[in-house]
Amino acid sequence: MASAISLKGLVGLVTGGASGLGRAVAERLIQQGSRVVLCDLPTSQGNEVARTLGENCVFAPTDVTSEGDVDNTLNLTKEKFGQLDAVVNCAGIGVAFKVYNFKKDLPHSYEDFKRVLMVNTAGTFNVIRLAVGLMGKNQPNNDGHRGVVVNTASVAAFDGQMGQVAYSASKGAIVGMTLPLARDLASQGIRCMTIAPGLYDTPLLAGLPEKVRKYLADTVPFPSRLGYPEEYAQLVQAIIENPMLNGEVILALKPESTVRKSFIKEQVFAYLSRQKVAYGNFEVVDFENTELQKHVKSIALCDTDLKLRERKSIDLQDSNLKVYVFHLLDDGPSDEDLGDCDNCSVAQMWSLPNSAFCGIWEHLVFDEEIKGRLLSYAMTTLLFSDQKVNCNIISWNRVILLHGPPGTGKTSLCKALAQKICIQMSDRYSYGYLIELNSHGLFSKWFSESGKLVVKMFEKIEEIILDNDALVFVLMDEVESLTAARKSSLNGNEPSDAIRVVNALLTKIDHIKKYPNVMILTTSNITGAIDLAFVDRADIKQYIGLPSPKAIFQIYHSCITELMRTGIISPVQLMLDIRALEITSYAENDATRLSLQLLRISEESYGLSGRTLRKMPFMAHAMFIRASTVTLEDTPFLTWMISVLLSFYTAFFHLTFS
Ligand SMILES: Nc1ncnc2c1ncn2[C@@H]1O[C@H](COP(=O)(O)OP(=O)(O)OP(=O)(O)O)[C@@H](O)[C@H]1O
Ligand SMILES: [Mg+2]
Repeated sequence: MASAISLKGLVGLVTGGASGLGRAVAERLIQQGSRVVLCDLPTSQGNEVARTLGENCVFAPTDVTSEGDVDNTLNLTKEKFGQLDAVVNCAGIGVAFKVYNFKKDLPHSYEDFKRVLMVNTAGTFNVIRLAVGLMGKNQPNNDGHRGVVVNTASVAAFDGQMGQVAYSASKGAIVGMTLPLARDLASQGIRCMTIAPGLYDTPLLAGLPEKVRKYLADTVPFPSRLGYPEEYAQLVQAIIENPMLNGEVILALKPESTVRKSFIKEQVFAYLSRQKVAYGNFEVVDFENTELQKHVKSIALCDTDLKLRERKSIDLQDSNLKVYVFHLLDDGPSDEDLGDCDNCSVAQMWSLPNSAFCGIWEHLVFDEEIKGRLLSYAMTTLLFSDQKVNCNIISWNRVILLHGPPGTGKTSLCKALAQKICIQMSDRYSYGYLIELNSHGLFSKWFSESGKLVVKMFEKIEEIILDNDALVFVLMDEVESLTAARKSSLNGNEPSDAIRVVNALLTKIDHIKKYPNVMILTTSNITGAIDLAFVDRADIKQYIGLPSPKAIFQIYHSCITELMRTGIISPVQLMLDIRALEITSYAENDATRLSLQLLRISEESYGLSGRTLRKMPFMAHAMFIRASTVTLEDTPFLTWMISVLLSFYTAFFHLTFS
């Protein structure tokens, strides 16, 4: 049977009991039927507070750093109540100074530092070391339990801010002493716990200007306010009552704790249903809802074109929308000690979802449902593996090959796909990684070295894959270099090591592909030249061709929008997107004029790769405009785009026919 400790009749000693957290604890204990020795400095309001709490509360003037004071308090406790069951240490002070004031050329006062440590750390210890003597004389309950000590640290013990060096050190020391105290006292059945509260509305904070208090409150994700001392007292009660809590530090209201995803999802659904309809993808960064404003960087409605063949508006209240909540990571690629050759690393590793890949998926435009198909393929792969479908009965691989002319977005699509899947699978996998192999680096150099590198690199990759919570994408860009390596070795131009390296690589790929949390993405722009051994391994061989005029229009449209956003094209003009143009049946009027002109330029641009298209606005500016702003009105920008196009084609023909 569980033997919860009852607060009724219990005797508690609360330090710092005249105000703030201590006072709230004393009040709560009295309310629950306990008897309380309320300790605080003789100069405090302790006497008055104790009087208002009634006859079960007695004030004991106590300086926690004084051995004599604490001894007297314990004698009083024994005299008045006969025993001691719980000690709650709330007495504490704080100062705010940086370790050195460089403006005044003044170091942090040594006295202040010692005083804070004396009261907070030594004082807490002094009370505990003497009080447990009295507690140890209690008759144990059925569990052998004699009493409990609850200390007050602070979130500053783990996450001290500037100017909190003394305070953080003193509170960190309380955290540090918790476990050894619990161990020392275990044989007597005395528990020791520490609470590390976040920001509570106590006299310590009351002295701050309202603006600062508000700022501090805003740093708490949810609910965004300072905690009430009663809430702290509630936690103390729970700790006293629960006999299984021992030797731990409980963090309450940690400022950087993240808000629940489910809460954000609810808010987003509510926001979207207020918007009623959407006409395609959109992204919002400004919300009226303060909760969203506080926690969310942007809401993007995306991929509305993946399944939707007809061009119609989307009913946001009635659609089966899925909401994914995620944090973008800012860390760049790391070379992760996956080996290096000739001073160039053979692989780079990215954590996903990464801010470097943000927006790539949205800005890649393809005509067919390429993105949708790749996404559902990848999701099915992960689902089948995760559900442990027997691959001898149903077979599938984990290799995707994208091939097609240069600059059509193959590499970008691989990265975007990895990011996208990672976001969509964030409930299943806690982290994602993209490991980008440098095929050229691996195969163009000394093969005997390459063999070792391949083995070493894959050993590292396998270590990462072994973590079941990680989703790992291995990107092998431009796999044709593999074939080149093999061919040259067959022609006798290279040592036969080459073939061994290629084979080692293929074997290693076959090996890691057995893991359920891996996906291998490959690209090539010389389709005919890809090693057959490789083509065979890929389940999806997706051709990525040159964009059609409509896709080109969308690419140009996004470029013009970006130039308007940054003020290079000014003023901002209405530019209809392709969906809106279709709805107007391409009829020419004031609203459609600019967009139709852009569409004509897009038709002229057919034959260019996505990479070249994305350079066109830059070229137009550099070659012809050269001013910090340009208008779209009277279409000068678009006219210059045509000029670039013409000059581009002239150069191209010149190159081709000369
Ligand atoms: N269909 C497209 N839509 C939008 N942008 C595109 C498209 N195709 C290419 N781009 C842009 O062109 C640039 C080059 O793309 P990327 O490097 O992914 O092409 P690639 O197919 O891997 O080329 P290569 O075969 O030369 O390696 C990227 O900035 C990408 O955004
Ligand atoms: Mg590429």
